[in-house]
Amino acid sequence: MQTDLRGRDLITTQEWTRDEIDTLLEVAWDLKRRRATGEPHALLRDRVLAMLFFFSSTRTRISFEAGMAQLGGHAQFIESQTTQISHGDTAKEIGEIVGRYADGIAIRQCDWAIGNRYIRDVAEASRVPVLNMQCDVYHPFQILADLMTIMERFGRDLRGRTMNVSWAYAASYQKPISVPQSLILLMSRFGMNLRLTHPPEYKLMPDILQQAQDNVRQHGGSLEMIDDFDAGFRGADILYPKSWGALLTTDDDEESARIGQQYTDWISDEGRMALAQQHAVYMHCLPADRNVEVTDGVIDGPQSIVYDEAENRLHVQKAAMALTMS
Ligand code: CP
Repeated sequence: MQTDLRGRDLITTQEWTRDEIDTLLEVAWDLKRRRATGEPHALLRDRVLAMLFFFSSTRTRISFEAGMAQLGGHAQFIESQTTQISHGDTAKEIGEIVGRYADGIAIRQCDWAIGNRYIRDVAEASRVPVLNMQCDVYHPFQILADLMTIMERFGRDLRGRTMNVSWAYAASYQKPISVPQSLILLMSRFGMNLRLTHPPEYKLMPDILQQAQDNVRQHGGSLEMIDDFDAGFRGADILYPKSWGALLTTDDDEESARIGQQYTDWISDEGRMALAQQHAVYMHCLPADRNVEVTDGVIDGPQSIVYDEAENRLHVQKAAMALTMS
């Protein structure tokens, strides 16, 4: 167990060792237990988290804000449009200045080819830890919550479990690729048999795939690429089908939407769920396009664990804040 994570940024889970991630999960379970039993845990009294959002959010904003209050501190919600960023405040200035007011800076900046660079520039200038609330490349807290949820279902030893990270069709908008990328990066460090299932136009970043393959070599398990939606479900223990944009194929949203039109039958439905193990679980980070990306019957059905995933955002984020901001 690692006890000196104070001051550490969390931008991608790849920059935390397995031991450090195990520590974060231990603390998350402890804080979950303390909340369930009503035991006070004001570990960050008088501390402030500045939360800077360039993109909308339901779960991320509310869980970070609630988590900071439960830890005895305060979270500031800052919508980027209400700041002077558009009038010239640079990433360096945000890091320098906000880092002198707050004890941690959390940022959501999902703009393609901009978000991660922005968060890293703020982190470089900041004297306090920077937490990535989702960028164009990574969504670390979602995936840490997903890992915690999977372990609650299947136990801490996930070796031999088959997880299908799959593209699915959605019509609402071209969703970021940060969730599937972060999923294959983290789950490939736990010896699982991973499937990455998508049509050819929905590739992930080559560098991310390389890192995931390196993880598999180090930790065991496998990473298999599949382009058949049904094949991804067959015999799997954990199903994570969600949409993402064809960002590696085109940066034109309309063209990306047109490409997606070829694959409207990539919907998670009861027939597809029946291809998986009987005990299989359905996961989605939310928001989902209901009855487009997934049927109501599946997302509201007995195999769905989407609300446990959403709840665990609170606990892993509280753990990360307690460890890095105390
Ligand atoms: N899953 C997730 O990050 O949800 P929000 O976009 O609502 O924060």
